[in-house]
Amino acid sequence: MHGTLPRPAGPAAPGATDGPVLDVAGLSGGYGPVEVLRDVAFSVRAGEMLAVVGANGAGKTTLLRTISGLLVPRAGAIRFAGRDIAGHSPSEIVRMGVAHAPEGRRLFAGMTVEENLRLGAYARRDKSRPSIAASIDRVFAHFPRLRERRRQLAGTLSGGEQQMCAIGRALMAEPRLLMIDELSLGLAPLIVEELVHILHAINAAGTTVLLVEQDVAVALGVCSRAVVLQTGRVVLTGDAAALLDDADIIKSYLGG
Ligand SMILES: Nc1ncnc2c1ncn2[C@@H]1O[C@H](COP(=O)(O)OP(=O)(O)OP(=O)(O)O)[C@@H](O)[C@H]1O
Ligand SMILES: [Mg+2]
Repeated sequence: MHGTLPRPAGPAAPGATDGPVLDVAGLSGGYGPVEVLRDVAFSVRAGEMLAVVGANGAGKTTLLRTISGLLVPRAGAIRFAGRDIAGHSPSEIVRMGVAHAPEGRRLFAGMTVEENLRLGAYARRDKSRPSIAASIDRVFAHFPRLRERRRQLAGTLSGGEQQMCAIGRALMAEPRLLMIDELSLGLAPLIVEELVHILHAINAAGTTVLLVEQDVAVALGVCSRAVVLQTGRVVLTGDAAALLDDADIIKSYLGG
C-alpha cells in the first residue's frame, strides 16, 4: 500500500520487507484466573495502519497490554520483527521497537510536557543527549502544539493535547510499531481529525501503527485493515472500507 515510499537504505531488520512486523498466534491470557483473550491470531504488516475494534470489554486493552509485556500470556506466540517477544519484560519489548500509548493517556500531571516526553526515552538503547534531543525535535515537528507548551504541566493541557503528549512520549522510544489505545475517546471531532492527520504523517514517515479504537467510524476511516474482537476472540479480519460498508457487521459485532 505504500508502494511509492522509498525503501530505507541499509540492511533491513528481519521481517521488515515481506513478512508481518507483528504476528500474533494462538494468544490466550488475561488477569490471573480471568481469561480474556482466547486463541487470538492476527498480523500487522510492515508499514500499515491496522485497527483493532470491538465493543466495550472485548479485550482490546488486554491485547495491547499483553503485546507490551505488561501482562504475561497464558499461551501462544507474539512475534515481532521475527523474534518471539512473549514473556519478555515491558522495557525489553520497548527496546525491541514496540511502544504503547495507553488508554487514558497516563501522563504525569505534575510534570511538564517535555519531562513527560523524556520519560518515553527511558527504555531505549541510545540515551545520548543529541539523540534524545533529535527525537524530541521529531515529536515537536509532528506536534507543534507540544513545542509551544513544552514547559507547561501536563495536567493543565486540553484532552487533545494530552493525547498528543501521550503519543509523543511513545514516539520517544523511536518505535517501529506504535500502538495507540483509544485515540478519540473523550475528544471533539475536530481534534480527532487533527490527530488522525498527524497519525498518517507518523505512519508515512515509517512507523507501523496498531490502533485500538472504540469509535468504529474513526478506526475504519483511518486504517486500511481491521481486526474485530468480540469477547476476547477475533471474529473478523478484513479490509476496513469493506467492513465499514457492511451494516450487518457493524450492528452485530460493534453495537453500531
Ligand atoms: N485488571 C483486571 N482484572 C480483571 N479483569 C479485568 C481487568 N481489566 C479488565 N478486565 C476484564 O477484561 C475484559 C476485557 O477488558 P478490556 O479492558 O481489555 O476491554 P476493552 O475492549 O479494552 O474495553 P473498552 O472498550 O471498555 O476499553 C473485561 O471483561 C474486563 O472486565
Ligand atoms: Mg480498552
